[in-house]
Amino acid sequence: MNFSSTDQRNRMIGVVTVVTVLLLIGGALISAMTPWLMGVQASTQARQVDALMRMMMFVGGIVFLLVQGLVLWAVIAFRRRAGDDGDGPSVHGNYALEFVWTLIPTIVVFIITIASYIVFVQTRAPQANELVVSVTAQRYAFAFQYEDEATGTIVDDRVLRTYVGRPVKMEMNTVDVIHSFWIPSMRVKQDILPGRETTMRFEPTRAGRYPVVCSELCGGGHGGMHAEIFVYPDEESYLAWQDTVVNCVLNPPEDPAARGRAILEGNVGGYGCAGCHVLDDLGWNGQIGPSLNGIADRANQRALAAGDTTGEEYIYTSIRNSAAYITPGYQNVMPVWNEEQMSDERVGDITAYLLTQSEVGDVAPPEPSCPVPSFDDVLAEHEAEQVVSR
Ligand code: CUA
Repeated sequence: MNFSSTDQRNRMIGVVTVVTVLLLIGGALISAMTPWLMGVQASTQARQVDALMRMMMFVGGIVFLLVQGLVLWAVIAFRRRAGDDGDGPSVHGNYALEFVWTLIPTIVVFIITIASYIVFVQTRAPQANELVVSVTAQRYAFAFQYEDEATGTIVDDRVLRTYVGRPVKMEMNTVDVIHSFWIPSMRVKQDILPGRETTMRFEPTRAGRYPVVCSELCGGGHGGMHAEIFVYPDEESYLAWQDTVVNCVLNPPEDPAARGRAILEGNVGGYGCAGCHVLDDLGWNGQIGPSLNGIADRANQRALAAGDTTGEEYIYTSIRNSAAYITPGYQNVMPVWNEEQMSDERVGDITAYLLTQSEVGDVAPPEPSCPVPSFDDVLAEHEAEQVVSR
């Protein structure tokens, strides 16, 4: 650029300075929107990811305002005047300008790449004293498994549980297609791949219950495939849950129906029934398979209509070999488990429990047999304590 006088040059420097300051302020304002975009921050990984996000929002904000500002300025300053039908001058060959607009983005992208790599490595680094939880994904539910270190007992659950300050390592597998395990509040997400175990790590920093979402299209029920994570405020409250459940697994109830309830309620075996069926007694609201409310009545009716079977046999067979009786209007998509995965005794227990799900009969469904402390109570108590200590 040629400046005809020092005056013009000074004016140019002034404009560039003002624009630069405005861009920096604008970038900072856009970057300040990050917490609102990202939601609750509940892990050390979330802090790192959000810091990176903040930086990228700052850079992106400046680029956005610069480009939009230039477009707006060009539209106004170089608009067609009345009576002007000619073309504008053809401008090319400004090496200095081309050099600058190549160099600056290169440096910016390079810095973002390095920062992203650092966060990527840090958020995945193994920690001491990790709580190992395995998760099995299956259309359309996640099943979690813990091992009690003292007794070696395996505990199944539909909920992912840990406590503040305890790093978690997830060992993830799928029995069917690709799913993706996403905990938005922890800012961690990882695909779960057939035939290959993947891992994921996070360290919760904030007690509470947060959603877990499947973020890979895995079939018709993908939109409903989610779970919850309960972050206990401390190790003591977490162990109160774990010890209770371990005790229940080691001492199952005498009554088969009560055992069946415990299997379904705790998702023992990881069958994930809750992901597909409705059952009010256990608070299920899956939308893929037939409802199990009042299933005993319908099983008895169908057995009666078929003539050569009983309600008990109808339910037993529907679990053991789901293709045998397909409820009209539903597809044959229920998984089949062999005897190793689901023993005959277990099918019998689940059948005994489902036979108590009657809306016309006088069969009383069994009470919950494992008095797990309510997580909401644990949270409420923790919040009350915090208010007192303030
Ligand atoms: Cu599993 Cu989407």
